[in-house]
Amino acid sequence: MISDVDGDSVVYLNGQFLKLADARISVLDRGFIFGDGIYEVVPFYRGKPFRMNEHLARLERSLASIGIDTGLNADAWQKLVLELASKCSLAYFTVYLQVTRGPAKRDHAFPTAPQPTVFGMTSPFTPPTAEQRNVGLTAVSIPDIRWLRCEIKSISLLGNVLAKQQAVEAGVDEVLQFRDGYLTEGASCNVWIARDGVLAAPPLDNLILEGIRYRFLEELAAKAGIPFESRRISKDEVACADEIMLTSATKEVLPVVQFNGKPVGTGKPGPVYAALRDAYDQILS
Ligand code: PDD
Repeated sequence: MISDVDGDSVVYLNGQFLKLADARISVLDRGFIFGDGIYEVVPFYRGKPFRMNEHLARLERSLASIGIDTGLNADAWQKLVLELASKCSLAYFTVYLQVTRGPAKRDHAFPTAPQPTVFGMTSPFTPPTAEQRNVGLTAVSIPDIRWLRCEIKSISLLGNVLAKQQAVEAGVDEVLQFRDGYLTEGASCNVWIARDGVLAAPPLDNLILEGIRYRFLEELAAKAGIPFESRRISKDEVACADEIMLTSATKEVLPVVQFNGKPVGTGKPGPVYAALRDAYDQILS
């Protein structure tokens, strides 16, 4: 058992709720052998899910895009998530869901009668600290070497894992990835810039994951009267931006104040971030 994982916590595996320490899958599971599966991360605040329907709709889109049929409909997913959450004693946690194409003899082609593995667990969730929110993060640019189906929330995360490790080795908080000179996303977050009061983010295509906070931040910007553009963003534009921001389930919205060793704008979290952060906090309160 991994020392910092609570083996007594309750997980869901293929129709059963059981202790994490008792959960077992086959080593021939295609998730283990091929990374053939998808996942989701739903944050809970004070025991309540945040944007669960949107997360579950994305889960169903991911499943459909790789041809996995679990037989579970939207109601069944919701029931599963809420039941798992009800067994977690924490106030702030995430529900992690993972579905793979299941165990089968090792063969790249899909098995003819797949039995998907459906797994869910809860993990502690620490919302961003006051320092991360008020002082901000640092980032460096790296080339985006990932595949061309980044819109799928795939468990094959080697490109993202290698990207995040580059941040660690560079001594910064995050990497901003660029493909053909244009911004895509962070290792596990969406990226935004602001220039002259206008917010912009890369378009929702196959090169990035549609974060659940993508539409959410768009809504917050509209309410706050901040113009938003979904468009390609060059590396030069990122380097000259007044503000850079990151969003994800666990980062919420956070400012990047240093990019490639240089201050972003004033080097302090800016006004567009402050407005979005306030709007975000209001929704969470
Ligand atoms: N990651 N882009 C990538 C590559 C991501 O992995 C994530 C989230 C996002 C933001 O999506 P959302 O707003 O729905 O969290 C964008 C999660 C948190 C993870 O892998 O743990």
